[in-house]
Amino acid sequence: MSITQETIQAVQNSAQIEEVVADFLSLKKKGQNLWACCPFHQEKTPSFSVSPTKGFYKCFGCGAAGDAITFIREIEGISFVEAVKYLANKYGIPIQEADPHEQQAQRYKKDSLYILLNLAKEYYINILRQHDEGQTIGLSYLKERSFSEPFIKQFELGYSLDAWDAFYQFAKNKGYEEVLLEKAGLVIQKEHKTYDRFRGRIIFPIHNVSGKVIAMGARLLKTNSQQPKYINSPETDIYRKSETLYGIFQAKHQIKQKDNCYLVEGYTDVISLHMAGITNVVASSGTSLTEEQVQLISRFTQHITIVFDGDPAGIKAALRGIDMVLAKGLNVKIVLLPEGEDPDNYAHKVEAAALQNYLEERAQDFITFKTTLLIQSAQGDPIRKAGAIQEIIQSIAVIPDAVKRALLTQQCSKLLGVDEAVLSAEQNKLSSQREAEQRRRGERLLRTPIAPMTLSSRVEPGHKLEDSIKACERESVRMLLSYGTARIEGEKPLYAYLLQELEEVHFRTPEYREIIGQFQHQLAQGNVVDATYFIQHQDETIQKTAIDLTASPYEVSEHWEEQHQIYTVKEEDNLHQTVFKNILRLKLRLIQQLIEDNRAGLQGDLDPEEEEKLLQVHEALKQSETNIAHQLGIVIW
Ligand code: CTP
Ligand code: MN
Repeated sequence: MSITQETIQAVQNSAQIEEVVADFLSLKKKGQNLWACCPFHQEKTPSFSVSPTKGFYKCFGCGAAGDAITFIREIEGISFVEAVKYLANKYGIPIQEADPHEQQAQRYKKDSLYILLNLAKEYYINILRQHDEGQTIGLSYLKERSFSEPFIKQFELGYSLDAWDAFYQFAKNKGYEEVLLEKAGLVIQKEHKTYDRFRGRIIFPIHNVSGKVIAMGARLLKTNSQQPKYINSPETDIYRKSETLYGIFQAKHQIKQKDNCYLVEGYTDVISLHMAGITNVVASSGTSLTEEQVQLISRFTQHITIVFDGDPAGIKAALRGIDMVLAKGLNVKIVLLPEGEDPDNYAHKVEAAALQNYLEERAQDFITFKTTLLIQSAQGDPIRKAGAIQEIIQSIAVIPDAVKRALLTQQCSKLLGVDEAVLSAEQNKLSSQREAEQRRRGERLLRTPIAPMTLSSRVEPGHKLEDSIKACERESVRMLLSYGTARIEGEKPLYAYLLQELEEVHFRTPEYREIIGQFQHQLAQGNVVDATYFIQHQDETIQKTAIDLTASPYEVSEHWEEQHQIYTVKEEDNLHQTVFKNILRLKLRLIQQLIEDNRAGLQGDLDPEEEEKLLQVHEALKQSETNIAHQLGIVIW
């Protein structure tokens, strides 16, 4: 039996961590916190701390940490629900048992759709394999198109009979209700008749990122039909087209490993590339990429390579949409296939190795690609050329990273034969329009003057940049959780500054990324959450991370102050500078890492042209480093 969310909430609001713990341990006050010997490991001197103000316990010896519910769960060895009941009794909170019907209806609403979609998938696979029509028409069609057995299996392809209601009858016999079948998008009701949505088609199940089937794509076999070539599931409670990418489940690990995601158009393109050994590929299913889809890809990589069919008209139409991807800070490359080929065709024409080479060697940076294409199509007409230049400048101006912008401007100046200064001026106009907009909203800090820092932020020898970047990430999330709603200089809340400034930064530490993501997610729904939200989070990793972040050591250990004098100033008094410096420091480290990477590139055997390019990159990066360092008040040598 389970309990309602309201009961859990009431328990979380009432339970005083120090009272709960005091029933089991004898606590001694020292500083702001209470201390005891840890009940979860053997020790003689107390390192188990309880923070009444923040509502959590944390052991600095064994790392055990949690809120009141976690403590009871751990010490009594009972379940979450039992722990909530224990605390409800202690505090005289009435326990509302969740209405089993209501709750089941809620929880099972989605689950039943997943179950049904899975049933349909199995059914269509079964028809493809076992049924005469499936074998002679469906399977032989797939074989004719050279889709081989392991891939038909991996992508769970199926076949729907060319009949009105074969699936409907099957599901009805299994006891599934018509209403649910319709909600799942599998059948259609019209004029008191119920019939199958998919008839006489190859079925391409569409999986979500964790591998559950959420929809179907279905391809017609007949060529002479009036029907559309593809029919897809409608949007349902479990399927949002704009948030879905075909193949993401099968590709996600490889996308991460290869640190690149190929983007193609269709179902068959994805499968054919897999067959050629290119498995980091997803399809947008024929529509232009949405922000949510880019967000999904960016969980695994910051690099997208878009594979375009060799059809010049289609490409020009697609170019505009790509600015959105750039604006999200991702790196975009383009591969153009030979005229008249799509990935599926082409993969069947050439050897796997040749295809892999082609995709790697022909991938061009998007801006360079766009520049070349637009200049070619202007054919020397000055007015069209001017228009083209404006378009290119617009694309560059949306890129959040100033360093990348500068580098691309440089390159395009060469390609266009236009003075770099002219391009920068035009582009600055656009960027400053954008920034003026941001400043109007009071969200831009980067130009605020800052007093020079006495503390050197240079990276000490032996201290890896990577660690330093992570420390800055940690500090940002800590500020967000601890002071998110504090107003900076009586104006914007701190979270608004922080999120705005970090918009272009991809956090490397997954836990911090997750917390920021959830913060933003809640924000989008109108909730501003704080440390407590994460400290009471039911995901253990998030809960622990939040506790680690907010249990600032200077509060819990008296020695800490001596060791780390940076914390001795009350940071609440100087939030503006603290948060701002931390952001700058993070950006500085990221640039320094780019410099290191670039320097590594210069070590190799290079032809003079390449070397020149890398040196220019070096210069540009050094310039940004100096700018940021200047704002931070540090001298960089
Ligand atoms: N698409 C769709 N509805 C259509 C046509 C296309 O949803 N009526 C989507 C499908 O996701 C399809 C993609 O757009 O995979 C690309 O369309 P197209 O290139 O026409 O199909 P292919 O995937 O290439 O399929 P095939 O190779 O079988 O022609
Ligand atoms: Mn196609």
